[in-house]
Amino acid sequence: MKKVITLSQLREILLKWSKQGHVIAFVPTMGNLHAGHIKLVSEAKKKADKVIVSIFVNPMQFGEGEDFESYPKTENEDNYKLTEASVDLLFFPSVSEMYPKNMDTVVSVTSFAKNLCGGSRPGHFSGVATVVAKLFNMVRPDLAFFGEKDFQQLAIIRKMVCDLNFPIEIVGVKTERELDGLAMSSRNGYLTEQQRKVAPKLYHSICQAREKVLLGKEDFRIIEVEQQEYLSTLGFNVDYFSICRSDDLQQAHDTDCKIAILVAANLGKPRLIDNLCFSK
Ligand code: PAJ
Repeated sequence: MKKVITLSQLREILLKWSKQGHVIAFVPTMGNLHAGHIKLVSEAKKKADKVIVSIFVNPMQFGEGEDFESYPKTENEDNYKLTEASVDLLFFPSVSEMYPKNMDTVVSVTSFAKNLCGGSRPGHFSGVATVVAKLFNMVRPDLAFFGEKDFQQLAIIRKMVCDLNFPIEIVGVKTERELDGLAMSSRNGYLTEQQRKVAPKLYHSICQAREKVLLGKEDFRIIEVEQQEYLSTLGFNVDYFSICRSDDLQQAHDTDCKIAILVAANLGKPRLIDNLCFSK
């Protein structure tokens, strides 16, 4: 695996690959890689000649008091995992390479960032959209792979690509889970042993909610409250538990068919998110 840190090194390789007519897939990450990230890589490998992964902990998407400074950095392990996964190129830019001084332009996300994680993390999705737009312009991939684990992020990236005419196919990849159902996440490492035992209940709670939705007996708003209460009694500090329409992430009602159930909750220090998407 080649590793580059500057844009000019990246462009040199891209020029060669484009002359050779290669199809290029891109997987943006913030590092501390786990099997969920590697799943994106293996899906990318199926569809492209060359796979590029970026690792960049993006300061612009962290709010005040969030874990930017302490975000886990595991460069050697990440290199090893990406080499094992036969990634062709790792782009590992510095903050100054990504954000030169006097940057004055950002991508702003309006209605899709209003609720859910966007509601509780103001500016977060503008930070995500800005860095992803910059990475797209740097890497110029044919396809880009994102996890369904971050469902609102995926929806926002799809919308941005459409609104700003990026000639890139966005591919969503199913959430990779631990055996007990917990969605894999770089932040799971913050959980204590005791919290780790409780954490899978987050996924169980959305599975329960799906059963209730499919039974069709209860109002969706009541299901949301019941599931929040269930999680609170287990020690979660719930930010939201929402039954939404999967296409626009607005509150769903019993006449809607395509449903996404999304949850975010703190369990001690870490903020965990998860979701389930289904048709009824
Ligand atoms: P990061 O949290 O490192 O995630 C990188 C990619 O891996 C995202 O597309 C995310 O949805 C996906 N991913 C994470 N956990 C997953 C799991 N358990 N199963 C499947 N895919 C999973 O998301 C970001 O970084 C950043 O916001 C980024 C898009 C890189 C912009 O900075």
